Amino acid sequence: MFETLIAGWDGERVVVRFDAPIGAWMFICMHSTRLGPAGGGTRMKVYESPAEGLADAMRLSAAMTSKLALAGLPFGGGKAVLAVREIPHGDARRELFLRYGDTVASLRGGFVTAPDINTTESDMDVLAERAPGLVFCRSVANGGSGSSAPATAMGVFHGMRATAQRALGRDVDGLTVLVQGVGGVGGKLVELLARAGAAVVVSDVDADRARDAAANARGRIVPADRATETECDIYAPCALGGTLNEGTIPRLRCRVVAGAANNQLATPQDGDRLAARGIVYAPDFVINAGGALHGAGVELLGWDDERLAQELAQIGDTLLEVYDRAERDGTSTDAAAKQFAEERLSAASPAR
Ligand code: NAI
Ligand code: PHE
Repeated sequence: MFETLIAGWDGERVVVRFDAPIGAWMFICMHSTRLGPAGGGTRMKVYESPAEGLADAMRLSAAMTSKLALAGLPFGGGKAVLAVREIPHGDARRELFLRYGDTVASLRGGFVTAPDINTTESDMDVLAERAPGLVFCRSVANGGSGSSAPATAMGVFHGMRATAQRALGRDVDGLTVLVQGVGGVGGKLVELLARAGAAVVVSDVDADRARDAAANARGRIVPADRATETECDIYAPCALGGTLNEGTIPRLRCRVVAGAANNQLATPQDGDRLAARGIVYAPDFVINAGGALHGAGVELLGWDDERLAQELAQIGDTLLEVYDRAERDGTSTDAAAKQFAEERLSAASPAR
């Protein structure tokens, strides 16, 4: 199974480690090191099978290559998955991250990482004990840059405003925006939108979170299973990937999709399906680069707040260029953004 998956992947290197103490699999996918060390988050999750974890890491790492190239950061794309039987806590969790840290360190700087789904700043603190200098977004108390969620939300906000201008000829003021998933990123995004005068609709499987976010933004709540078919101007997926697919796209009642989740399209054809319906899609790996800009910019490149703010605003301009290219080439916005990233990569020095 692993062999078939790896044979069908266009990346550079896969590192697989079986962690006997808790029966977990570690997959580190280094998709590209053309622009620098492969960078990407570490996701911890219970998968149906180890192969699904590997497939997730492979797909996500390819998106990181395009994301970091278009964000103008000196990193290639990577991603790691810790496919666990159950989410560990306490000492078991700490020990897992120490062992995983040894694996990251063994790559001698080829892979650098940050938090992702189910991994936190504290996990990054532990990881950095074994892989110093190779970890972003450690806790502020430990000298790190802390959570990347507010920067990601700010980047999505800029990207959404640019997309609204382009697709609807106006700013978000007075538009209805549905935010699916109001965790670290979605929760902040809701605040930014409410402040900018948008009518906010929220949806979360966690009822308490939905209620708090809606109260903050004086917004309304829709049940989690109704989000994709609720009428709105802008749909912002900020929970899980794969919500744009053959089944949901015909039922969408929005004019723009612009949100933070990674891998929103189930397949590349879903980008064409959205275009055919006249829905403008902000490619996820362009609009959600704020987290990477925060982690890498602040911790590695020494950016101050002002520089970070400028880089986050740039996400809107990059999206406008993507829309121009899609129109010029008659492709989906997803295909246009991938092509744009490809041009950046080929302009760089050859693969190392
Ligand atoms: P989070 O875990 O803090 O929040 C996710 C929220 O989605 C939670 O409130 C959860 O209850 C909710 N949720 C889960 N399944 C749902 C469903 N089916 N319907 C509605 N809500 C559901 O995660 P975070 O950090 O806010 O990230 C959100 C998304 O953005 C993730 O897909 C992540 O990969 C992506 N992302 C995050 C970045 C960051 O800097 N945190 C950077 C780039 C992408
Ligand atoms: N895991 C985050 C993402 O998917 C953020 C991140 C990536 C931060 C790489 C730093 C470096 O974009």
